[in-house]
Amino acid sequence: MDESLRVIYKIQKEISTLSSIARLLEWDENTNMPSKAVSAKSEQIKLIQKMRRKKLVSTKLYSAMSTLKKKKLSSKDQIVLRELEKSVHKAKKIPKQLMIELSDASVLGLSAWKRARKKNDFKLFERELERIVKLKRKQAKLLNPKLKPYDSLISLYEEGMDSEKLTVIFDELKLGLVKILGKIKDSKKYKVQKSLKVKMTIEDQKLILNEIISDMGINQERVALGVSLHPFTIGISKDDVRITTRYVNPLESFFGAVHEAGHALYSLGLPTEYHDTFVFKSASMGLDESQSLFWENKIAKSEIFWKGFFNKYKSCMKNNISRKEFYEAVNSVKPSFIRVNADEVTYCLHIILRFEIERDLINGSLDVKDVRDEWNRKCKELLGITPKSDNEGVLQDIHWAGGDFGYFPSYAIGAIYSAQIYNTIKKKIPDFYSDVRSQYFEDILSWLRKKIHNKGKTALADDIVKAACGKRLDPKAFITYLEDKYSKIYGF
Ligand code: CO
Repeated sequence: MDESLRVIYKIQKEISTLSSIARLLEWDENTNMPSKAVSAKSEQIKLIQKMRRKKLVSTKLYSAMSTLKKKKLSSKDQIVLRELEKSVHKAKKIPKQLMIELSDASVLGLSAWKRARKKNDFKLFERELERIVKLKRKQAKLLNPKLKPYDSLISLYEEGMDSEKLTVIFDELKLGLVKILGKIKDSKKYKVQKSLKVKMTIEDQKLILNEIISDMGINQERVALGVSLHPFTIGISKDDVRITTRYVNPLESFFGAVHEAGHALYSLGLPTEYHDTFVFKSASMGLDESQSLFWENKIAKSEIFWKGFFNKYKSCMKNNISRKEFYEAVNSVKPSFIRVNADEVTYCLHIILRFEIERDLINGSLDVKDVRDEWNRKCKELLGITPKSDNEGVLQDIHWAGGDFGYFPSYAIGAIYSAQIYNTIKKKIPDFYSDVRSQYFEDILSWLRKKIHNKGKTALADDIVKAACGKRLDPKAFITYLEDKYSKIYGF
């Protein structure tokens, strides 16, 4: 092998190993770490990150990359070099001092956010948020001075997207969703719908969710299931993915596990020939979310799935309820304040609210002191309800406190992609409905593997979806899917 190639692969392997150690620490931090371990844990993570950055910005790596740019490379090596360059570029653009300031600001931000939540008062978080916004603008300018600051942050999660494109797409989505929500609220069924509280022991919850995720293709040789307050998935290395759920509400533990298993399948299906390079990751956060939402909403919350699975589920449940009542209850729509509890129809309205606020905040047309009022105004406009307190409004999400600006759009992008994938897959797989009904998921999974998972970061998410489904990010697909599903449930 060419010496420069050998160098870049070797250093990438070391970086990838350090990253996997950091992720393992993160898993531990969010699952069973005792609370007093927090400061030692942050030292551990900081050290690993420092070592990782040092390798990434090293002159040895840089000169090997420069040599390779003049050489004729295989297409695989070209892709590896391209993605590596992007990461090196990102690391070099941000001086160490700013990195430290950002990380300190997020620590202070998180603790101020917690204090503010305790007192239910956004004012107590304003000063720290102000500091974070300023630093994020600075980071954005350094990353790409030609872009609007918010666009530069979006590209950290969703390469190839920008706020102009997203504003057009989200405006169309907003219109469609508000219309569907209106029809639902006008229906007779809406007025009499009751919420469902499933009664099930924790043992049975574990039994039933393990059954479904194993049907999906999750096995204990490569995936461990843990418990955490907020369910998440973390890919440690190619044969080691961790997912969590929580056992508070049986419906939540079930659908939460399916959601995370969807993320895990993406991780497990990444292209192994690119292992230990920057290509071995999901193409974007939105495409990653499309995988979890595909399994959660399009499969596990579909009527056809429950035709096949209800009797099994019912044998674990202590409620006396028909399949139809159950299906309608798990898909019931109702505007509510808290994003993470939102249904499939209103969820993206929560995201659009956050997108518009953070876009204007980072680009400078909205001041921190006006964020609360803007939130409440938009909540009324989009969902028809006004938060009575900051905890059920502007203080509910942790993202901004930790410095994560530009991440929210990915949730809605994922919802749209998942509908595009669903519309395509049901045409491509002749036995789709009978497969879902009998929980036979092999053909569905192998389609996802071939068209989405094993592309890794060889292409942009939007190009992967275009090649797989024929269109780029297309809100119409999602709106049509919702209209079709919910008109049947609510009879409009
Ligand atoms: Co997710």
